[in-house]
Amino acid sequence: MKKPMKNSEKVNHARRKTLVIASSALGGVAVAGVATPFLGSWMPSEKAKSVGAPIEMDISKLPPGAQQRAVWRGKAIYVLRMTEPMLKAVKETESSGLLLDPNSEASDLPETLKSEQSRQLRDDIMVLIGVCTHLGCAPTLQGVDKGQSHTPGWLGGFFCACHGSKYDYAGRVYRGVPAPKNLPIPPYRFENDGLIVIGEEETV
Ligand code: FES
Repeated sequence: MKKPMKNSEKVNHARRKTLVIASSALGGVAVAGVATPFLGSWMPSEKAKSVGAPIEMDISKLPPGAQQRAVWRGKAIYVLRMTEPMLKAVKETESSGLLLDPNSEASDLPETLKSEQSRQLRDDIMVLIGVCTHLGCAPTLQGVDKGQSHTPGWLGGFFCACHGSKYDYAGRVYRGVPAPKNLPIPPYRFENDGLIVIGEEETV
């Protein structure tokens, strides 16, 4: 049979119960306190969202042969308005055997271009990520017309001064240089003739 509880025992028992409830409640607070920042760390901040957001580039005043730059997701974006001689150079280079991956089979391309098997949405505009595929330096636009010839067969394009990698005007890498791949192309779309949105593409 259960022994009757003394008064002092009743108090201790009641106190112990209160402590258990209190510590459980505190535990709940602690868990909630930990859980809130933990959940918060999974939610992208406004700044993080804006860093990854698409950007617009107004190219309406970009003259032929010139390049406009922007930064998207921390990477340099190059937009080049191709001239007739540049387009000719791209065609000639393609069949020269000097390019490592002339058809961009191993290139990083957005879905739209992959499905079109092309490096451009529009013939006169080339959009590239200006990060050398060797070690990440920024290649610069150079042309043989400006007397900047690096090797025989070089018809102009982008040159990376860090270790000498060469790309054509379409960002395709030459053979025999340290860079292993063509320059990547970001997802993009034309909002209108003079406005490009980088970071978004037309759904295919
Ligand atoms: S980083 Fe461009 S050649 Fe090395």
